[in-house]
Amino acid sequence: MNLSDYLEDKRKTIDSFLKDYIAGKKKQKDCPRQLSEAMGYSLMAGGKRVRPVLCIAAYEAAGGKSDGILPVAASLELVHTYSLIHDDLPAMDNDDFRRNKPTNHKVFGEALAILAGDALLTDAFNLISNTNANPARLLQVIRELAHAGGPEGMVGGQTADIILEGKKAKKKDIVYIHTHKTGALIRGAVRTGAIMAGPAPDKLGSLTEYGEKTGLAFQIIDDILDITGTKEEMGKSTGADTARGKNTYPSALGLKKSEKIAEQLIHESLNALKEFSAKADPLREIAKYILLRRN
Ligand code: IPE
Ligand code: IPE
Ligand code: MG
Ligand code: MG
Ligand code: MG
Repeated sequence: MNLSDYLEDKRKTIDSFLKDYIAGKKKQKDCPRQLSEAMGYSLMAGGKRVRPVLCIAAYEAAGGKSDGILPVAASLELVHTYSLIHDDLPAMDNDDFRRNKPTNHKVFGEALAILAGDALLTDAFNLISNTNANPARLLQVIRELAHAGGPEGMVGGQTADIILEGKKAKKKDIVYIHTHKTGALIRGAVRTGAIMAGPAPDKLGSLTEYGEKTGLAFQIIDDILDITGTKEEMGKSTGADTARGKNTYPSALGLKKSEKIAEQLIHESLNALKEFSAKADPLREIAKYILLRRN
């Protein structure tokens, strides 16, 4: 099987896991119908599934073999989807479209969009806790996800992104925003996958470095795509984040320099994997894809 088939296969596995998860929610009589509809609308709206695929690829690179990893991988997509629903709200980025579809609050209203996000975040932990993996590892994974998504991670980054909107941020603040609002969950995806496989500590260190570099590169590329217009066909207007006064690498350093930094980060992330066997090839491929992606 070639690598793009591998990645496509993992994406399909995650999609089908998430589809079953939402079908299960819709059958829960204690979960209001409108809530499961709103959760399912964004969860199944065509995301690239980068974080769960990274989680599975890191698990396999660290020697993991079973599909006990799936609930953990899926939990990352639940947290990611919640973050996007809230990110698009009028009080945050005020976006009307995502992935070519009206945003969650445009379809279900703001209150339901907030609640659907809350539900996805909470249920992410429910998913992890309902696996029969080694309890000590699960506890570590729960702690890892809470750290990646919480105030010292993604929510911290989102806070700085909002507070500094329209203001000229210092270089160190821009680095903080990017490494936290996006980098933290991507790093967390790689680390939770690796932790589930129980690798030697030095391997976990290298995988963490890989996650940090690709995570930062991912947001730099996201900001470049916001300007170069490839997101327009995704229903977002070109330069929306820039026009809103977001502090981004391209707004602070220009496109060319930002592209160079992203390239360098991907180069370093590949370097961090140099001691790994061919089992890490999917991770290598994802890093290259992050640099070349157009949506
Ligand atoms: C978009 O993330 C928001 C960022 C953190 C940059 P993705 O580009 O992974 O979004 P989807 O899930 O594939 O739509
Ligand atoms: C999103 O960053 C980061 C999170 C949702 C945590 P952006 O605001 O740049 O993402 P897009 O451009 O709306 O996808
Ligand atoms: Mg935002
Ligand atoms: Mg946004
Ligand atoms: Mg963006």
